[in-house]
Amino acid sequence: MQAESRVRVRRGRLAALVVASGVLLGGCARHASQDTLKPAGPLSHKINNLFFLTFWIAVVVFVVVEGGIVLAVLRGRHRARRDPEAIPAQTHGHLPIEITWTVIPAILLLALAVPTVKTIFDLARKPKGDPLEITVVGHQWWWEYRYPSLGVTTANELHIPTDRPVYLNLESVDVIHSFWVPKLNGKRDVVPGRVNHLNLRAVRPGTYFGQCVEYCGASHANMRLRAIAQTPADFRRWVDDQRRAPPTPTGLAAEGLAVFEAKPCIGCHTISGISEGNVGPNLTHLQSRTTFAGAIFPMSPQNLAAWLRDPPGEKPGSRMPNLHLTEDEIAKLVAYLETLK
Ligand code: CUA
Repeated sequence: MQAESRVRVRRGRLAALVVASGVLLGGCARHASQDTLKPAGPLSHKINNLFFLTFWIAVVVFVVVEGGIVLAVLRGRHRARRDPEAIPAQTHGHLPIEITWTVIPAILLLALAVPTVKTIFDLARKPKGDPLEITVVGHQWWWEYRYPSLGVTTANELHIPTDRPVYLNLESVDVIHSFWVPKLNGKRDVVPGRVNHLNLRAVRPGTYFGQCVEYCGASHANMRLRAIAQTPADFRRWVDDQRRAPPTPTGLAAEGLAVFEAKPCIGCHTISGISEGNVGPNLTHLQSRTTFAGAIFPMSPQNLAAWLRDPPGEKPGSRMPNLHLTEDEIAKLVAYLETLK
């Protein structure tokens, strides 16, 4: 019987060890693309500094409090072993100790409240100077980006310059979403009927991953995004390209345009000079993006064809319906989409 219970205890310990190491190792990733503890801009650095200040204060509190408990337990056991009959001294109230454990936490909380409130206000302030304002619109399940001052509209991949603060105006056309690029700043809810704001700043050029972080329906997990930070020169080049009108298609691509105009595509998507739909992403410069459909598929003719064959099959709940296109129509449409550089 005793042996049996010992085996049970050993099994329990093993299970606890496996679970604990699973949780611990789950936090390990050498190249985690959405690691908030590897900040890449001044705003995320502020958050990081606040996190580690809080963390280290908590570590000191933990060590002191737990150390005291362990010490008391060890001393109590030692005493009990010496004299099992003895009852420890019974006391009621201890004014100096009570004052101490009220005052120390109060000081610690104050020490944390000051930098916390300061950080919140610093992050929320509209940057001085000449911030680039971008309107971010949350859709089920993709992101629309409008640059009103530049006359540019794009989707899923947000281009930002490294030399200028970026000020986002966040809107939603359907449900509540939340915009988050962990390496560049904290998250902000995107709420229908109101405009929220978020600052974004990247120090170095690069691609920073993000995603929607408010459950928003079937494809919430497929509502990803990328922030692409570029040098001022590269950003200017990107803007110039985005403002260019699409070329006139020829051959198979021209037949693709005819399919686009004959099918419901034309009512939902904008292509400069062709259509003005705003249900789906603006496709004028589709090929300038590296991904599509909520930044979940790499841009390629094969992936575009698979998408056109059955959008809800590729992305559950997709607002773009299955249009039951023939393989011939799909080939023509893909040929046309390939020209939208
Ligand atoms: Cu949008 Cu979750």
